[in-house]
Amino acid sequence: MDHENEMDTPASGQVPPKDALDQAGGAQPPQLPPQGTQTVSGQREVMSRRQFLTYALGGTGALMATMVASPLVVSAFDPLHRASGGAFSKTNWKPSDFNEKLPTHVNYLQHIDDGWNSQDVSNDVYVIVYQKKLMIMSHVCTHLGCHVNGSTENGKSVAPEYGNGKEWFFCPCHGSQYNIYGVQTPASPAPRPLDLYYYHVNADGYVEVGNNFQRSDATWGNNPNPTLA
Ligand code: FES
Repeated sequence: MDHENEMDTPASGQVPPKDALDQAGGAQPPQLPPQGTQTVSGQREVMSRRQFLTYALGGTGALMATMVASPLVVSAFDPLHRASGGAFSKTNWKPSDFNEKLPTHVNYLQHIDDGWNSQDVSNDVYVIVYQKKLMIMSHVCTHLGCHVNGSTENGKSVAPEYGNGKEWFFCPCHGSQYNIYGVQTPASPAPRPLDLYYYHVNADGYVEVGNNFQRSDATWGNNPNPTLA
């Protein structure tokens, strides 16, 4: 066994003294890679940047998908935004409860039946008679969907209170104003008149209310509902 060589070999993990290095012919200091050479750690750095970009793009995509899907989720779970499947809902109104002068504010239970869920949800509308038909107007502002207020006092309809006494509805959110037929003023942010509801009158004389439909400025007076007897 060569004891001399054993003495010269440092234990694992120990740094040999400078003299020993000199005697061994001078160990070379660790060499730095020439400039411009990519190191292993540099490659790791590039990989981590790629991963970061992958995660960032993936996160942005997920966020955009969520934004697109949100209205669909709302329409799926919010009963008042869900299609009612064409069902008509009973009311306790008769056509004679309404008049041609001012809208009347009334409530009913709207039947929601979309195949996997069935329920009755409270809804309120404004009703006026125009050309021998009921105009059953939605309370939903056509700008961004706030609940419009009618000109009422203690629950009773009064003369138009808005727009210097010309307009009957007012939206508290952004100030849209509508006349007694739910037609918006030109200065209102609302883009179209209040929606109307389909209806029919049962043999017992009571009104049943169906889905709502949109009107435009040009078609505000078009009403496909039946003429009153
Ligand atoms: S929601 Fe009615 S004016 Fe904006």
